[in-house]
Amino acid sequence: MNEAILIKQFELGTLKNFIHLICNKETKDLVVIDPAWDIDTIRDWVEENNYRIKAILLTHGHADHIEGYKKLLETHDVPVYISKVEADFYNIEGKNIVTVEADYQYDLGGIPIDFIPTPGHTPGGQCFLAGGHLIAGDTLFIDGCGRCDMVGGDPVKMFNSIHNRLMKLPDSTMIYPGHYYHEKRCDTLANQKKTNPYMLADKLEDFVARRMPSLA
Ligand SMILES: [Fe+2]
Repeated sequence: MNEAILIKQFELGTLKNFIHLICNKETKDLVVIDPAWDIDTIRDWVEENNYRIKAILLTHGHADHIEGYKKLLETHDVPVYISKVEADFYNIEGKNIVTVEADYQYDLGGIPIDFIPTPGHTPGGQCFLAGGHLIAGDTLFIDGCGRCDMVGGDPVKMFNSIHNRLMKLPDSTMIYPGHYYHEKRCDTLANQKKTNPYMLADKLEDFVARRMPSLA
């Protein structure tokens, strides 16, 4: 683990969203991931801890994850990164919006943040990986994963995202989900491989049947 990284996690809103900050303790720069619900709480923490917001990163386009980014832009004129596929699908645009292709890498003052494409919950969803910390949005929950039955969802793509991308990361990777749906607020990939039913479903048809019971 990179000692310069601090992950700050807020649980905000009526849907138990997790909003995350990836902080560079050495440069005092940070990025805000999925700002929503209570922007003042995020701003206050940043100010009290003497950090600078460098960018906003969006895992996906659902309102409960992005509804606060415009309010945050009122005080912090920073770029807002989202995948091109997602921005096109949800018509997300504006002068601060930066659309990126798959596997973009952002530099947070010397700390690389890898953007991992993880379609399945939405067409252009992505996770953010920094120094062994994975901000997973709605792709992974603790002992769960995001729904694939909403518009733009695809359980086959979700299987690939989880089994062929995220589960190939080192077992020590710490997973931070997009919602507080479990008593654990984060967990290692090693633990999740033992208890997450969507990781245990290692055949595509088993995964789809579990995620989309109406199709089984
Ligand atoms: Fe979502």
